[in-house]
Amino acid sequence: MAPLFFFLIFLSVVSAVKLPLSPFSNTDQKPTDPYLSLRLLAESSIARAHKLKHQTSIKPNEDALSSSSSASATVVKSPLSAKSYGGYSVSLSFGTPSQTIPFVFDTGSSLVWFPCTSRYLCSDCNFSGLDPTRISRFVPRDSSSSRVIGCQNPKCQFLFGPNVKCRGCDPNTRNCTVACPPYILQYGLGSTAGILLSEQLDFPDLTVPDFVVGCSIISTRQPAGIAGFGRGPESLPSQMKLKRFSHCLVSRRFDDTNVTTDLDLDTGSGHNSGSKTSGLSYTPFRNNPNVSNTAFLEYYYLNLRQIFVGTKRVKVPYKFLAPGTDGNGGSIVDSGSTFTFMDQPVFELVAEEFATQMSNYSREKDLEKLTGLGPCFNISGDGSVTVPELIFEFKGGAKMELPLSNYFSFVGSADNVCLTVVSDNTVSPTGGRSGPAIILGSFQQQNYHVEYDLENDRFGFATKKCIP
Ligand SMILES: *[C@@H]1O[C@H](CO)[C@@H](O)[C@H](O)[C@H]1NC(C)=O
Ligand SMILES: *[C@@H]1O[C@H](CO)[C@@H](O)[C@H](O)[C@H]1NC(C)=O
Ligand SMILES: *[C@@H]1O[C@H](CO)[C@@H](O)[C@H](O)[C@H]1NC(C)=O
Ligand SMILES: *[C@@H]1O[C@H](CO)[C@@H](O)[C@H](O)[C@H]1NC(C)=O
Ligand SMILES: *[C@@H]1O[C@H](CO)[C@@H](O)[C@H](O)[C@H]1NC(C)=O
Ligand SMILES: *[C@@H]1O[C@H](CO)[C@@H](O)[C@H](O)[C@H]1NC(C)=O
Repeated sequence: MAPLFFFLIFLSVVSAVKLPLSPFSNTDQKPTDPYLSLRLLAESSIARAHKLKHQTSIKPNEDALSSSSSASATVVKSPLSAKSYGGYSVSLSFGTPSQTIPFVFDTGSSLVWFPCTSRYLCSDCNFSGLDPTRISRFVPRDSSSSRVIGCQNPKCQFLFGPNVKCRGCDPNTRNCTVACPPYILQYGLGSTAGILLSEQLDFPDLTVPDFVVGCSIISTRQPAGIAGFGRGPESLPSQMKLKRFSHCLVSRRFDDTNVTTDLDLDTGSGHNSGSKTSGLSYTPFRNNPNVSNTAFLEYYYLNLRQIFVGTKRVKVPYKFLAPGTDGNGGSIVDSGSTFTFMDQPVFELVAEEFATQMSNYSREKDLEKLTGLGPCFNISGDGSVTVPELIFEFKGGAKMELPLSNYFSFVGSADNVCLTVVSDNTVSPTGGRSGPAIILGSFQQQNYHVEYDLENDRFGFATKKCIP
């Protein structure tokens, strides 16, 4: 029997072979419950889904507000790495002189914020072996370029909309010194609060002045600051007016190692607009028809058309694949979710199809309870296993045929595997749908070259070994 600590190993080929064990774990950290880490990731993926689904920030729409950048480089790069808290970390440098801080790379939200000041407080932040006292902070006092965003600064509207209340300010003179109101943001299980700063964002060959960044004073359950790459005006891609950005998320076996890949930010001052990156399959992004819910406008909706398990098409009703006129339903891609989430009716269809096609193997219901994942199977036996493929097909025919390790994981031992897709077991109280029905998480994007082509409003992808 395996040592009594959590480990998770991965099948690396889509085929019928049983691979040798190559357990990995944070060996300096041995939770007594070997399934705890997985269960926490499953729970946080579900909590994250709830947050994305029920967020209804209805701020009146923002004007396109300009920010200038002293461009010289076309593509700037930032290092991305896998973290045991379930996400990917990107390092960014702010301030004068610059301070480099790790952020959670998040395409499902838009504000960029850092833990701020030496008094930063983070409660419930000791998960995944994190020591909250060692979370990197930005210290505005040490930067000569930090400015508090004023209430009448048009950039205050990024978060608060054009009708922001500026107490004691004369709207006619616009010389008021009142600060933009503090923000409070909820993410999945956590939250953060602080004030907006204007800072300089630095890359080796590019400086972005007057970048709006949140200086968070207090947070709950946040492993680091968050770099929002969503579609809101406050996001990094919006403020930098990126033409596209792309990445390759390394396998989760490299959690907390120093292995990094590049997050490429294309400022576009050179490339051929409209050109496709060779080898990538593209599908257009989709707009959410409900423009009054700005939360929905932050997400990258995809045109998911079909889900296949093996050769069998899963009959997912269209309303789950595309958002309806009320804005609910549809599928989004979110780097801040670990495991892909599916609304219960969709998940059941997919899970049942796996169960049917894998009926040779015994179901491990206890393991499903322990991990929050499922279906789980005992695949021990003759030394070879057959697992059906999981395929997402998008508008335009682009097909994401997931590598096996992106949707099945060994859990606890080499005998057991679980589907790494989550759902919630609760039926919504209203019985209705709310928010995106399918959230494509980062676990499913491992070893893919993924491109957000903002200029042409499309999503490109191709399998790729991120570490050659
Ligand atoms: C985190 O801290 C809280 C309160 O100090 C404690 O109850 C909890 O057990 C700690 N969790 C971990 C994973 O260390
Ligand atoms: C703002 O401008 C008005 C008119 O120019 C002036 O009377 C007022 O004192 C100024 N307020 C501040 C806070 O500078
Ligand atoms: C990464 O870590 C490994 C092992 O700890 C070390 O040998 C290697 O030099 C490190 N690489 C970098 C780029 O720091
Ligand atoms: C758009 O979303 C908001 C908030 O979720 C909701 O109140 C409103 O009814 C929706 N609009 C339509 C047309 O359904
Ligand atoms: C899986 O099944 C085999 C054969 O039935 C059994 O020997 C083994 O204990 C099972 N493994 C687990 C982890 O339940
Ligand atoms: C399932 O069992 C049947 C009958 O025992 C066998 O013919 C088939 O090869 C098995 N399939 C797999 C995937 O092991």
